[in-house]
Amino acid sequence: MSTVPNITLNDGNVIPQLGFGVFQIKPEDTVEAVSKALEAGYRHIDTAEMYGNEKEVGEAVRASGLDRGDIFVTSKLNNSFHEPDEARRAFDTTLSDLGFDYVDLFLIHWPLPTVYNGDYVSTWKTMEEFHNDGRSRSIGVSNFQIEHLEKLSAETSTVPTVNQIEVHPYFTNDVVRAYGEEHGIVTEAWSPIAQGRVLDDPTITRIADKLSKTPAQVVLRWHIQRGDIVFPKSVTPSRMKENFELFDFELESSDFGEITALDRGEDGRTGPNPDTFAYVPS
Ligand SMILES: NC(=O)c1ccc[n+]([C@@H]2O[C@H](COP(=O)([O-])OP(=O)(O)OC[C@H]3O[C@@H](n4cnc5c(N)ncnc54)[C@H](OP(=O)(O)O)[C@@H]3O)[C@@H](O)[C@H]2O)c1
Repeated sequence: MSTVPNITLNDGNVIPQLGFGVFQIKPEDTVEAVSKALEAGYRHIDTAEMYGNEKEVGEAVRASGLDRGDIFVTSKLNNSFHEPDEARRAFDTTLSDLGFDYVDLFLIHWPLPTVYNGDYVSTWKTMEEFHNDGRSRSIGVSNFQIEHLEKLSAETSTVPTVNQIEVHPYFTNDVVRAYGEEHGIVTEAWSPIAQGRVLDDPTITRIADKLSKTPAQVVLRWHIQRGDIVFPKSVTPSRMKENFELFDFELESSDFGEITALDRGEDGRTGPNPDTFAYVPS
């Protein structure tokens, strides 16, 4: 079985570099998917209130028979709950839905700079409370642009441990990643295989054929060598196993460089732009 490296965060906690994402896994399929992922060796699960499957993630963790302390679980504050009292209530609900007395990592899911008067600073200060009372071992953000990170830096005293952002070969997002690297914020790359869109790319398939690896393994290995955290999603057990086998090969620098050169800038983005995304569920 692969040994997944740990990454040390700026608060001293460690996180497995490879995990399992559960976005778009229906609640009724989540216990089965997370159970299979834990069987395959994953020890890091990335969920969110928005995904509607926190209860089932908690259920699968308990059913696994593994110690809670051996599994790293992340969840995220939904966009409806940025105001401090709402955030406190939402975090309580996340813990009770998961059935845990702590999460390893809690994130602000989106900055929403055009709603709540752009006040993600008071939301972040509320996140600091969750960290200080020990119920979120680490805290971080998701989809924050440089401007948003700079505002937190100017107005609060806690540097986010991670920034979870869209990153894959068609959208390398290197400017935001570089800012994180300079400031001790680890990048978590969401949609690491662009929900499958990069897997037919001729550059990727040529490198995969040469190395006798699959396109998904080549792309995920590229992320690992960049130092980012990844958590590919799959409901297919054979793919869960495939995506976990990343540590018995290495991309040489020319192949690595060719994959990085597939970047299409903003045109490569598949999800919303955080500067304008303003979706608040009712
Ligand atoms: N913070 C945010 O705003 C945000 C946004 C998006 C995602 N995320 C996180 O990032 C995680 C991963 O991103 P994602 O779910 O959007 O997309 P992804 O992991 O890039 O891709 C998932 C898709 O690729 C397929 N797939 C997985 N492994 C494969 C393989 N080896 N070969 C071929 N196809 C494969 C899956 O199909 P099957 O399931 O049918 O096998 C699924 O359709 C999410 O689950 C979530 O935890 C966060």
